[in-house]
Amino acid sequence: MREHYYFDNAATTWPKPEVVYQKMDRFLRRFGVNPGRGGHELAVEAERMISETRRLLAAFLGFSGSPQRVVFTQNVTDSLNIALFGLLRPGDHLITSRVEHNSVVRPANHLARDHGVEVTWLEADEQGYLDPDALRAALRPNTRMVTVTHASNVLGAVQDIDAIGAMVADTDAYFVVDTAQTAGVLDVDMERAHIDVLAFTGHKGLFGPMGIGGMIVAEGVAIRPHRFGGTGVDSIEPFQPENYPHRLEAGTVNVPGIAGLNAAQHWFAELGKAQRGVSDRSGHSHSEVTRFALAHIQAKELAHTRTLIECFGAMRGVTVYGPRPDRPRVATMAINIDGIPATQAGEMLDADHHVCVRAGLHCAPLVHEDRGTVAREGAIRIAPGYFTDDEDIRQLIAGVADIAGVPIA
Ligand SMILES: Cc1ncc(COP(=O)(O)O)c(C=O)c1O
Repeated sequence: MREHYYFDNAATTWPKPEVVYQKMDRFLRRFGVNPGRGGHELAVEAERMISETRRLLAAFLGFSGSPQRVVFTQNVTDSLNIALFGLLRPGDHLITSRVEHNSVVRPANHLARDHGVEVTWLEADEQGYLDPDALRAALRPNTRMVTVTHASNVLGAVQDIDAIGAMVADTDAYFVVDTAQTAGVLDVDMERAHIDVLAFTGHKGLFGPMGIGGMIVAEGVAIRPHRFGGTGVDSIEPFQPENYPHRLEAGTVNVPGIAGLNAAQHWFAELGKAQRGVSDRSGHSHSEVTRFALAHIQAKELAHTRTLIECFGAMRGVTVYGPRPDRPRVATMAINIDGIPATQAGEMLDADHHVCVRAGLHCAPLVHEDRGTVAREGAIRIAPGYFTDDEDIRQLIAGVADIAGVPIA
C-alpha cells in the first residue's frame, strides 16, 4: 500500500523528474544571484541559464523567431491577463469559448463589464469540442482576438488549433492559445497553428515548479505593458523598454523556477534520445528529440486513460464525461458516481483509498453548466501523468468500484 496514489496531474504534475529538484537546489546554491548581462561572473551565469531556457522553450513550442520573445511570468493566468488586457481596447470584439478555464472566463468578463469589450462565447459539443464553422460565423470586422484553451482541463478534449489558427490568420484578429494542459504533453507548434500569443504554465506538463510560467509573443505583436519597473538594462530610460522580454518583464524574474524549467527541458531531450536510441552526436535538434519524448509521454498517459474509460464506462452507476479514447484528447478525464456528490466521492477516495483526485468545478464553471454537473457538485477529475503506473490504476479502479458499490470485473 502506497501513501498516495496521485491522479491530480491536471492541477500540477507530481512528482517532477529528479533532475528538476537537483538543478533548482544546485543552481540556487551556486548561482542564485540576480541575473544581469553586464554584471559579475555569477550574474552572467544566471543570465546565460535564463537565455538558454528561452531558446529551449522556443524550440520546444515551435517558435523559430527570437528567443527574446519568450517572456517569463508567474503562470498561465498571468500570461493570459497580460495578453487580454494588453491587446484589447474598448469597442473590440473577443471570441472565446465555454470550455475555458477561469483564467480566461474571468478576465473576459471583466473586460466586458468594465472595459467595453464585446465577448462571444462559443459552445462546445457534448464531448467538449468547438465547431470551427461556428467560430467562422462569429467573426466580425471588429473581432480583435480569438482565444481558446488547447485542451479542456475537465473533459480532456483537444481543440484543432491548427484549423482555428489558419482561419484566424485570414483576419485582423490575434490568436491566443492557453496551453496549460498541453505544453509538455502534445506537440504544440506555435507557427503551424498561426498563434500570436502562446501562453504556458511551468508547473504542469512542462515539469517545472509552481510560480513560473510564460508566453511567447509572435513577431509584430505589441502587447501594452501594465507593469513597469526595473529590467536590469536601459536604466537611464524613464519609461519601460519597448523590446521583449523587458517590455513585459518588470522586476526580478523567478530564477529558481526558470532553472527548474531548464532542467525539465534537458530531461525531455534525454528521454527523447533514449526512446529513439539517438546519440548526442546524431545532430538532431532540441525540437526533434523532445518531440520523440512527447510521443512517448502521450502514448503512456493515454494508455492509462483508455483503460480507465473502458473500465468506468462498463461500471454500473458511473458516468464518464468527455471524448472516447480514440478522439483527440489528453489523459485528463472526469466521472461521477450515482447518488454521491463529486466532492464527497473525492473525499472518500482520499480518506479510504489514498487516491488523490480533484473533485468540484475545476475553475471551469461553464463546462459544468453545460454538462449539467453543477448540481452534482461538479465531477471527479482523474488526471494520470507520466509517472502514473499500473498499481495506481488498480487502486483507483478499486476505490471507485468500492464507492459505487460494484464488484471489480
Ligand atoms: C486550461 C487551464 N488554463 C489555465 C489554468 C491556470 O493555470 P495556472 O494556475 O498555472 O495559472 C489551468 C490550470 O489550472 C488550466 O488547466
